[in-house]
Amino acid sequence: MRFIELNRVDSTNAEAKRLAEQGDFGPLWVRADTQSAGRGRRGRAWTSEPGNLFCSGLYLHEGNTHQLAQLSFAASLALADTLEHYVPRHLIGLKWPNDVLLGGRKTAGILLESGHTQLGVAHHQKWIVVGIGVNLTHHPDGTDYPATHVMAHIPQADLKGPEPLMTGAQAMLAILVNRFDHWRHILLTQGFAPIGKAWTKRSYNIPGLVTVRLPNETFTGEALGLDEKGALRVRLENGTIRDIHAGDVFFGALQDD
Ligand code: BTN
Repeated sequence: MRFIELNRVDSTNAEAKRLAEQGDFGPLWVRADTQSAGRGRRGRAWTSEPGNLFCSGLYLHEGNTHQLAQLSFAASLALADTLEHYVPRHLIGLKWPNDVLLGGRKTAGILLESGHTQLGVAHHQKWIVVGIGVNLTHHPDGTDYPATHVMAHIPQADLKGPEPLMTGAQAMLAILVNRFDHWRHILLTQGFAPIGKAWTKRSYNIPGLVTVRLPNETFTGEALGLDEKGALRVRLENGTIRDIHAGDVFFGALQDD
C-alpha cells in the first residue's frame, strides 16, 4: 500500500480525486494532519483541527454499482474493528448508513466519492475515494448529532500498562487500512450478505425506534434491518414498510437542529 502524508491540505478526498483525475488510481491512502476545507456528507463541512485522523483511500473499483455504495458499510466495519484496539467493544455501535458511534455519540464519519477513469463511461471503469474522519483527541460542539472522541473512552488502566498504546493518527490509519482491505475483499468476493450480517450485529439500535429525515419529509418508525443491498427497512406506525436509501437517521424522538 502507498501512503501519502501531508501536513495540511484542503481535503484528503479532494487530493485523492485530483490524483485520480491525473490517472493515478492507487491503491493508496492520503492522510493529512489538518484540512482547510474538510467535507462531510450532504455538503456539510467537517471540522479538521490537528489531532484527529483525516484520511482517504483511492482504489480502482472492481465491483458493480451496488458494491460501490456498499463499500461505505465495509468502511464502517473497518472502523469498528479498529476502535476495538482502543476502547471496550460494547461502546462501539454503527448507525445507518455509515456513522460510527462510541457510547451513542458520533466519533467517525465516512464520505464515499467516485468517478470514471479516462477509459470513460463505455468501459464502466470507476475509481472510488473512501474518505474517513475519526475524532481522536477532540470533537466539535454544536453538531446536529451529539459527538465524542476516542481518547475520552480509553480505559485509564490501558494507558498505564507496560506497552504504550499507540493513539496517534498514523498508528490508527495502519490498522484501519488493513481492516478496510479485509472487508472490501469480502464484499468483492462474497457480496453484501456477510457485510450486512456483520454490520447488523454491530448496529446501534436495530431493531429500534428511528426518526428518518429525508430532504422533503420526516417520519418515525421501527428500524427492522438492512435489505439485501444495504437500504434501511423501516416499519411505519400504519404498518407500511419503507426502504430508505439515503437520508439522515436520528434515533428515538425527533430532534431540533
Ligand atoms: C460525515 O459527514 O459523516 C462524513 C465525514 C467525512 C470526513 C472525512 S475527513 C477525511 C476526508 N476528507 C474530507 O474532506 N472528508 C473526509
